[in-house]
Amino acid sequence: MRKPIIAGNWKMYKTVAESVDLVNRLKESLKEVFASKIDVVVAPVYTSLYAVSKVLSGHWIALSAQDVFWEMEGAYTGEVSPIMLKDCGCSYTIIGHSERRQYFGETDETVNRKLRAALQAGLYPIVCVGETLNEREQGETFQVVDRQVRRCLAEVSPADMQKVIIAYEPVWAIGTGKTATPEQANEVHAFIRDLVFRLYGTQVADQLRIQYGGSVKPENTKGLMEQPDIDGALVGGASLKADSFTAIVMGALAAMGKG
Ligand code: 13P
Repeated sequence: MRKPIIAGNWKMYKTVAESVDLVNRLKESLKEVFASKIDVVVAPVYTSLYAVSKVLSGHWIALSAQDVFWEMEGAYTGEVSPIMLKDCGCSYTIIGHSERRQYFGETDETVNRKLRAALQAGLYPIVCVGETLNEREQGETFQVVDRQVRRCLAEVSPADMQKVIIAYEPVWAIGTGKTATPEQANEVHAFIRDLVFRLYGTQVADQLRIQYGGSVKPENTKGLMEQPDIDGALVGGASLKADSFTAIVMGALAAMGKG
């Protein structure tokens, strides 16, 4: 069975002090949870990573960045390398979030470069894909997701694929309160798994964890997580408060044992 993975993408919210406060609260509210049952990841802004890593030192909650650059070092003003993320305590990084694609010119090609660099440095990449509302309405969802997955995973070996997590985030569901129904989301997750099966074979496809993201809340987590191909959630707004993020983790645990 695939281990569920719940990640909180804090986006551009929270000062260092607020980030430390939130992660301290999470340590407390998740203390009854067994690390062996679920992976929980938090992704603060760059400026909070080091401070949060100190608070999480030796703790099972894992740390992620929200983006990464594809070179290990060099004259790239404003960028942060995968090695630097490892150095300040990250074990994951989000790559290719739709907000980066929309506002910062991220493409499947840059996502692929970042993904390969992250793997080289030993980070677990959480690669985001998903269609816009317009693409869904035009009936292009599968075409768009097929293209994104193929291009983002170009030249990634089967061995490296064991470390990759894919997050399906329909752009129309992000921050809008409109969640994909569990069935709608699962349909795309199953499509992604089948594509990965065709690219990499059964073992990689069976092990691949696919998160759903887009208006995940305590109330809808269990229903989403009960779907056979939904293995986790990438949570935005509801990850900014300890009580709602904890309730989402609990919802995911409650859904375990699904057929
Ligand atoms: P919301 O949960 O706020 O819709 O954001 C989803 C998201 O973009 C997570 O990466």
